[in-house]
Amino acid sequence: MTIKFEILVPTLIMTFIFSLKMYCGTQPPFTETSGNNFMQITFRSKRLRYYGFSCTVTASGSGVLTSSSTAATTTTTAATTTTTTAATTTTTAATTTTADTTTTAATTTTAATTTTTAATPPPPSPPPTSPPPPPSGQCLCGRRNPVVRIVGGQPTTVHEYPWQVGLTSATSSRPYCGGSIISNEWILTASHCVDGSSASSVYVVVGEHDYSTGTETSVRQKIQALQIIMHPSYNRNTLDNDMALIKLSSPLTFPSDNKIAPVCLPDASNAYSNVTATVTGWGTLQPGGIQPFELYEVDVPTMSNSRCQQFLGSAVTSNMICAGLDAGGKDSCQGDSGGPMVTAGSTTQTFMVVIGVVSWGYGCAEPNRPGVYARVGNYLSWISTNIAGSQTCPRP
Ligand code: ARG
Repeated sequence: MTIKFEILVPTLIMTFIFSLKMYCGTQPPFTETSGNNFMQITFRSKRLRYYGFSCTVTASGSGVLTSSSTAATTTTTAATTTTTTAATTTTTAATTTTADTTTTAATTTTAATTTTTAATPPPPSPPPTSPPPPPSGQCLCGRRNPVVRIVGGQPTTVHEYPWQVGLTSATSSRPYCGGSIISNEWILTASHCVDGSSASSVYVVVGEHDYSTGTETSVRQKIQALQIIMHPSYNRNTLDNDMALIKLSSPLTFPSDNKIAPVCLPDASNAYSNVTATVTGWGTLQPGGIQPFELYEVDVPTMSNSRCQQFLGSAVTSNMICAGLDAGGKDSCQGDSGGPMVTAGSTTQTFMVVIGVVSWGYGCAEPNRPGVYARVGNYLSWISTNIAGSQTCPRP
């Protein structure tokens, strides 16, 4: 696919996420060719100095592509995303083209247009029972907010998983990893997500759902990290102990509407084998595929570690827990790392406990290749020692 760009106002920085090419300012019309069948483009304008931009994008294909030349124009006044540290607006458009159709990037869309050859996702799981009524003056953990890919999943509703956070850079709204709120000051994530990063370069986005728009949530906050604690026994070669804590530079206030809330920690004594677990994240919908703008969820069954070792061998340590279908098709994937795998905390109460942190896998959603998660239950004393002094919320 080839996309031609014409920038009319000299304030546009365009980033091609996969090739990481950047184009700034006024340039003559130019073309960019994708090595495969999709292209993700980020448009960014400096809100304080300028008033937006206008860009005409024309996509065309060759070879088996049959038609060409569809155009989309955007004019934006750069006021949709506010962060605590930067005043920038990021609008992202993504398009995926299969071999025999042509789809065109529409800028300032709020969702990715995708046409893929993948199987249709399964129907949504039935809505769970409602959580208990809001607490009076006191916070509670683990209460999902239901209404009614990650591979094989579906978008969540806005604030359905109020503990979900995304890790971003200072200047981007796109999460490169996930995490879970466990207290008003601490985020649980994977060590491999923060390995080599200074705390000041890591940002935690809470209350987010669709990172291409600022209009679907009024509680979104982007908070700089103050401190990163990687597990002292983390091994970057084996991913054993792939667990880390991020301290926020400003504490959260948990609203009574439960749009931002911590997840509950699991029971130490429970192995959580053969339970239905839910994984959430902004990770890719296929290995090497596009990253959705909206938060996705997928349900996967957990298994015993001995069964997981039959699939993956001794790379699976006792500090890990695996989940996935033997047939594949449902999994976390690149970009979901650090995010939560949760399950119901009890059969009689509707609260969720975080039993895993997305860690690794061979590809994504392959048959007989379950996803591997850091086993949160093995770290309860390390977690409670490190987050002591912050506000935690009891189970309902
Ligand atoms: N390491 C990946 C990341 O950094 C997560 C991969 C999870 N893979 C899987 N098949 N479940 O985002």
